[in-house]
Parts: sequence; C-alpha cells; structure tokens
Amino acid sequence: MDPAVMEEIAKKMESFEATMGHIEGVPLLGSTCDAWDSIYNFQARGDDILIATYPKAGTTWMQEIVDLILQEGDAQKGRRAPTYIKVPFIDMVPPKPMPSGVELAQTMKSPRVLKTHLPINLLPPSFWEKNVKVVYFARNAKDCMVSYYYFQKINKVLPDPGTWENYFSAFLSGHVPWGIWFDHVIGWWKAMDKHQILFIFYEDMIEDPMREIRKVMKFLGKDLSDGVLENIKYHTSFQAMKENPMTNNSTIPNFVLDQTISPFMRKGTVGDWKTHFSVAQNIIFDEEYKKKMEGSGLNFRTEL
Ligand code: A3P
Repeated sequence: MDPAVMEEIAKKMESFEATMGHIEGVPLLGSTCDAWDSIYNFQARGDDILIATYPKAGTTWMQEIVDLILQEGDAQKGRRAPTYIKVPFIDMVPPKPMPSGVELAQTMKSPRVLKTHLPINLLPPSFWEKNVKVVYFARNAKDCMVSYYYFQKINKVLPDPGTWENYFSAFLSGHVPWGIWFDHVIGWWKAMDKHQILFIFYEDMIEDPMREIRKVMKFLGKDLSDGVLENIKYHTSFQAMKENPMTNNSTIPNFVLDQTISPFMRKGTVGDWKTHFSVAQNIIFDEEYKKKMEGSGLNFRTEL
C-alpha cells in the first residue's frame, strides 16, 4: 500500500469508533447501514460465485478453496493477492480511503468470487435474479462465538466485545454485527430448495477435507484430478494458510487488525468452546439451541 495512504488510514483509525445500526431489525455495522442503498442494489453477474457465511464460520478457508478450484490448484496464482482483495466482501465498508467491497467487486473481471455475511433476507435481489451459485459455509455456534469474541477484540472496524460473560449474552441474543446466528443458518438452510445453494459444514471440512472440497468442485461444475484436489487440500490446510501472508491477513496493518492480541488464524479446530464456556453457560446455550433449532432439520456437531 502507498505509504501516504497508509498514514491517512492510521490517522483515521486513531479516533475511529465502530458504530452499529439496523436494517430490517438486523444489527449491522453503522458504515454498512450508511451505504445500504449501494449494497442492496449491487449488480450480481450470472457467473459470480457467492460465499455466504455467518462471521467466523471459516469464510477465509472457503474463499481460498473456491479460488484454488477456479485456479485448478495453481498455488502461485492463488498467491496473486490477499484473500480480501481476490474475494470482495460486498457488505463491508471500511473507513476511507480503503475501498468498499462493492467498489472492489465492480472493478473485477468475471468470473468473480464474492463474500457476504448478510442473512438471506437482506441479500441484494440481483443474486437471485441472476441465479448465482452460493456456497454457504456453516460452523457450530459455540465455536463461532469464541472465534468472534477474539476477532472483535483484534478488529478495530468492529465494536469492542467487552468481557466474555457480556459477550456470551450479546451473541446469544444476536446483539453482534450481522445478528443472530440461529436465524442466519436456518434462513440459508431453508432456501436450498429454491436456489442454487451448496451447504457445507466446517466440522465436515475438518473431518474430511478431500470429500468436502470435491463437493464444492462438483457444485462449481469442475472436474479436477485427485492430485489437484490433494494440492488444494494441502495449500488450504490450517498450517499452510497460517504461514501464507496472502491468507493470514498479516498484510492488514496492526492499527486495523491487531494480531499481537490474537492471531487471525487462531486455532482452526472443532471444540475450542470447551476451554471458554462455563458449565452454567453451556446449559443456557444448549437450552436456547434446542428452542431455536428444533424442527429446522439442521444438525451441528460441536465436537468430533
Ligand atoms: P478460530 O478463531 O476458531 O481459530 P472467518 O474466515 O470466517 O473469519 O473464520 C476464521 C476462523 O476460521 C478462525 O477460527 C480460523 O482459525 C479458522 N480457519 C481459517 N482457515 C482455516 C483452515 N484452513 N482450517 C481450519 N480453520 C481455519
């Protein structure tokens, strides 16, 4: 990044405080709400691929998997730019002069891979009009909550999470950016019979990456050899992505994403919630989960 631009951003971040707003009752970042017209009227293209997730579900992992499938496993091409540039985040509007996701996407050649955290009811309608393929990557709520807590601590564009005890209640009641986890996963799950949506679970990807990467490949209409798929698996492993500056977000300066507090590529496991949830919190969570998820047909594993 140009040093003058970097300095401008650094200055802005000194006094920056994340604000929240609401669109149709869903809590979103204030900057997303302010730019809502340009986001909601975003023009999708028929050959776009959209990766939709609740925050911290492993979005970056799926972004890299999809990109490497399109690059036919060529890791050099995969390293052409950081993940957040290759795969614009259409509902993100960082402080200027950083470009918004919509601005980045508009300048990109097709086929584009795009990212969103929007719940399905807020997705720009052009995605449905153009019948865009969507990969929804879902992760169990307990691990999402822990991961989101650390991410809100390090990401200066998001509100401070406060104490773990406060955050636990805020997350369960959906008072976090992009709203309530339950509504997000159920909303996207139920839309599968109407739209081209592939639903993939983080826990399944951890369990058997080859099997799950192959599902994504088939959904995207590609036919890659086992050798190429092995290569994609290797380059998208937690360790490889943690060491790769294009995927570990180390290109984002500390005054935006302070990885001295906690690394972006933190643990990458199923079940880290066990080292954070108290016994009482686990009981409260399980009761809420049962109430909200009953009859949804959706099942999440919280340990392997
Ligand atoms: P943890 O904080 O639990 O470690 P997102 O990309 O949606 O922000 O999600 C980030 C979470 O996905 C982090 O979880 C991160 O470690 C995990 N993750 C990223 N790449 C991964 C990979 N290749 N394998 C397993 N987990 C990965």
